[in-house]
Amino acid sequence: MAGSNIPGEIIEEVRNRTDIVQVISSYVNLQRKGKNYLGLCPFHAEKTPSFTVSPDKGIFYCFGCQAGGSVFNFLMLREGLSFPEVLRTLAERAGVTIPDPEDTPEQRRRSAERDRVHQALELATAFYEQALQADGGAAARQYLTRRGVAGDTIRRFRLGHSPPGWTNLLDELRSRGCSLAELEKAGLVVARDAGHYDRFRGRLMFPITNPSGKVVGFGARALDAEEPKYLNSPETPVFSKGRLLYGYRMAREGMRARGQALLVEGYMDVIACHQAGLTHAVASLGTAFTRDQARLLGQVAGTAVLAYDADAAGTGATLRGLAILREMGCGARVAMLPEGRDPDDCLRELGREQFELLLEQALPLPEYHFHLARRDVDLNTVEGKVSASRAILPVLAALDNEVEREAYLERFARALGVEIGALTEDLVRYQRQGLRAGDNRPIIGDATGRERQPVDHGLRRAAEELLRAMATDPRLARRVSAELGGDLLPDPAYREIAAGLVKAAEAPGFTPAQLVETLEDPRARALAAGLLLHDDRPVSQAERVADDCLHKLRHHRLRQRRDHLQGEIREHEAKREGMRPGLLEEYLALTKELKEQPTGSGSQDSGEQRAGSEKRGGQATHPAG
Ligand code: UTP
Ligand code: MN
Repeated sequence: MAGSNIPGEIIEEVRNRTDIVQVISSYVNLQRKGKNYLGLCPFHAEKTPSFTVSPDKGIFYCFGCQAGGSVFNFLMLREGLSFPEVLRTLAERAGVTIPDPEDTPEQRRRSAERDRVHQALELATAFYEQALQADGGAAARQYLTRRGVAGDTIRRFRLGHSPPGWTNLLDELRSRGCSLAELEKAGLVVARDAGHYDRFRGRLMFPITNPSGKVVGFGARALDAEEPKYLNSPETPVFSKGRLLYGYRMAREGMRARGQALLVEGYMDVIACHQAGLTHAVASLGTAFTRDQARLLGQVAGTAVLAYDADAAGTGATLRGLAILREMGCGARVAMLPEGRDPDDCLRELGREQFELLLEQALPLPEYHFHLARRDVDLNTVEGKVSASRAILPVLAALDNEVEREAYLERFARALGVEIGALTEDLVRYQRQGLRAGDNRPIIGDATGRERQPVDHGLRRAAEELLRAMATDPRLARRVSAELGGDLLPDPAYREIAAGLVKAAEAPGFTPAQLVETLEDPRARALAAGLLLHDDRPVSQAERVADDCLHKLRHHRLRQRRDHLQGEIREHEAKREGMRPGLLEEYLALTKELKEQPTGSGSQDSGEQRAGSEKRGGQATHPAG
């Protein structure tokens, strides 16, 4: 993975000389428990320890929040560092010298270029900071005062001012040894045929840092009604908007401490929140919220409250944000701000306490959808009831917890003024037909607009059992992988783990920690760590379990195919047109095959000896002792 250009032997040497228990002990009070160590998880708030470290395997895993990985991954998560940064830290500790990691000339050139770009950005930040305090910064200072930004906040966020001339920054930074090419690469200077000039002129400057605290770009606000209101750095070798969150570095501790992130839209919102003591606020950078950003939040905070503007654009952004956060396993609720207000306005107009109350009362996803569903209809009319209940069915259908579904059914039925039985019946009918015919789903579809089948518990469990079995026995891993093929495993993270297990099976001596590290997707990494902590099942059972799970997964796929065909048939019927050739035959054959096969239903418990409590999503089980 990330350490790609550092020789594998070096990584292994650092790993071998690093005691995972000792490293993690400086963050967590660990108690020995059999072969493993147990402590209170540093990644989420808990009262009973579910954070486990296995020194034999070189991995950690939390059964509460499903964080997991190698000692490198631990420091990446805990310190927000990149893999090479962690490697360097641990190498130093262990007394291992890393040969210049950028071993090809091309890599060395690029790394040197990045360093120069970082340097230019740092110099620019200092220049803008200074300019804000100079005479020419008076108007910008007044603007900040008017908006209630305190001096201390200005210093902490390193706010600045870009002077209005064409080449102020350019001249200053060139005199300090930056080349035009570097300044252009850094996005600070724009090239035109006429020559080069400063990109940011006469604006309030908001430096944007990466997770390790280096400035990588700027947001720049006009001081008057000039357009655009905000001008942002372009994509550069060090700045990629979709991967960053404004305020992340500053908010990390706050997010971790609360186990929650406050996701807002704007630079000023983040600043106002932090100034008011809401130190868990971050903003996506004026673009659509991305999976990378959700991952950043999920890793540190676990849950998020979205406080986007309550306008049409904000509602759209909220729905997409919710879908992505959910997809990335991060819990999310929506704060209902007064019409047309953003968090900065709220803090100023309502005060911190009232605003915090709004955050506390944030709606969970189903309730938010219900709120939208009933907002524009009259629930006193039959049409209103029908329309609102229709809109909420896909949301109820997508929930993967029965108790939750039941509770919402009851609540929504009451709010709609209908019997719970009626709503339940509609839901069942919807699940049987609507979902499969594919109508009416977009409300919870993910950000790409692509439909995502929610993966049910039983299926997850089968997939995880299967992977666990594969981990116990390389032969079994190879055999199963030959039978797996395609998308039999219901989640890309599982497929990545399966591929990793097969790779490990081919390379004797591959350790769990190495395996975990080869995985790109942090979710896959954590899942794998959880699975690998318990790969001690006797092989004879593994064989049986694997076959059982394979059977279940196949059965599920057959059923999916049958349902798909069924939908197709219905469509034909509805349009009163002839069937596509072979359609009916395939459908009948499948139905027969499914009938002949015993169970394999994805939603049944596999009945294996599972100890301890089951956590969300049917993921790994609690350690037995
Ligand atoms: P808003 O228009 O809501 O601005 O844009 P704001 O953050 O509340 O700023 P103030 O309070 O008017 O000063 C929200 C975010 O969208 C991005 C910025 O990141 C902004 O903070 N944005 C907005 C742009 O990138 N460009 C624009 O022209 C406008
Ligand atoms: Mn605002």
